[in-house]
Amino acid sequence: MAGVSPSQQSWWPEAASSWSAAERELLARLRPDRLPAHVAVIMDGNGRWARQRGLLDRIRGHEAGIDSVREITTSAAQLRLRALTLYAFSKENWRRPAREINALMALLTRFLVAERPELMGNNIRLQTIGVPADLPADARAALDETRRLTAGNSGLILNLALSYGGRDEIVRAAAALARAARDGRLDPDRIGEAEFAAALDTAGLPEPDLLVRTSGENRVSNFLLWQIAYAEIYVTPVLWPDFRRAQLLEALIDYQRRERRYGMVAEPAH
Ligand code: FPP
Repeated sequence: MAGVSPSQQSWWPEAASSWSAAERELLARLRPDRLPAHVAVIMDGNGRWARQRGLLDRIRGHEAGIDSVREITTSAAQLRLRALTLYAFSKENWRRPAREINALMALLTRFLVAERPELMGNNIRLQTIGVPADLPADARAALDETRRLTAGNSGLILNLALSYGGRDEIVRAAAALARAARDGRLDPDRIGEAEFAAALDTAGLPEPDLLVRTSGENRVSNFLLWQIAYAEIYVTPVLWPDFRRAQLLEALIDYQRRERRYGMVAEPAH
């Protein structure tokens, strides 16, 4: 391909040979040594996507959103990211109409079963954060089985936030630490940030380096409140069902243009 030297291509995922020319051009602009380890995504805009197409049923938007979930997950695995966390269902989403909740649960269940070959083929391990015990029995069963099947995979961790709220997660962690202290298993004087982080649902995962929100809203919406302390935030007007591989690559390119300082000053030039 024009402008892409063989050395640039050496780290490329094998699958990139079947990507479009435009996607490969975006890929050529990425530096493999500066990829984020963990990308977290607030998948927003499914309802607006359906409405823009004159579809009266918002659920059509969620259905289309599943295709984005598949493409972004597979692409993240092929780019060898460590973790991808998707905000699939929030605590607040239980307040939506029952019909929409049921449709989302059915889509999730179908996804968890149908995507098993894709997850296995791409060495992806499924995990969850939130309170999956809140989900209906068939969704829980599909989740447990897919988690079990993929537990030995060593590539991307696909982390689905299900019945998740950031404040709820922090409160559950605080309660767990308080119980441990009460039972004499933990000295309260030894609780620091690391101990607190280890009590969160995301224990063991790197913190998100990049938080993507689709559909243009500049809000965090109770997502990963502790974990995004130093994340770079990327808001795109693109609606989630239109957020595909090219849009992910654009977000990664934008991320790589940023200078992350973690409250420090930039390295002095020598
Ligand atoms: C926000 O769009 C999206 C959701 C509430 C759910 C996201 C769910 C999916 C993409 C499908 C299921 C997920 C998986 C992982 C299988 P919205 O309905 O708030 O859109 P709007 O703001 O335009 O109304």
